[in-house]
Amino acid sequence: QDPRLERISSAIRVIPDFPKPGILFQDITTLLLDPKAFKDTIDLFVERYRDQNINVVAGVEARGFIFGPPIALAIGAKFVPMRKPNKLPGEVISEEYSLEYGKDKIEMHVGAVLPGERALVIDDLIATGGTLDAAIKLLERVGVDVVECACLIELPELKGRDRLGNKPLFVLVKVTA
Ligand code: PRP
Ligand code: MG
Repeated sequence: QDPRLERISSAIRVIPDFPKPGILFQDITTLLLDPKAFKDTIDLFVERYRDQNINVVAGVEARGFIFGPPIALAIGAKFVPMRKPNKLPGEVISEEYSLEYGKDKIEMHVGAVLPGERALVIDDLIATGGTLDAAIKLLERVGVDVVECACLIELPELKGRDRLGNKPLFVLVKVTA
């Protein structure tokens, strides 16, 4: 295993019972305070994706906005924000997804991506997989080829990976309770 992964997982702070009882929150803000761990994180993704002809890095609001842009710059891809509802000023397409209670939605500007482009979807964490699944669906609806999804952290017990079907998912750290 790459020695950088140890530094990365120790830089992630775990906070019990946030935002509600029973949730073991994975706090990536402490990783951002450690420039070496933050750089190692970006480097690991860049090393994996730099030679894959990826044109689009799509990041999911909010925490996908932290990790997506440095990766996009390093591999020479454009960055496309996938935003929470009613934030984007232009014409949007949107995709609803179910949460534990209720529904949420992500939106993307029409014209931000083109049919046939190759995309990487990035977020900080996969739990149930609902967010990433919606991001994939949104991109595929407009003819984009989603090459892979990438996250820093996977909570394998929630089986989010299964929700992505056969779409490849690359993660740096797996966290079990
Ligand atoms: C968190 C996390 C992922 C998503 C994972 O985002 O950053 O985006 O949940 O959950 P899922 O796999 O069950 O869909 P959240 O919407 O809580 O907020 P934030 O990124 O805006 O902080
Ligand atoms: Mg999020």
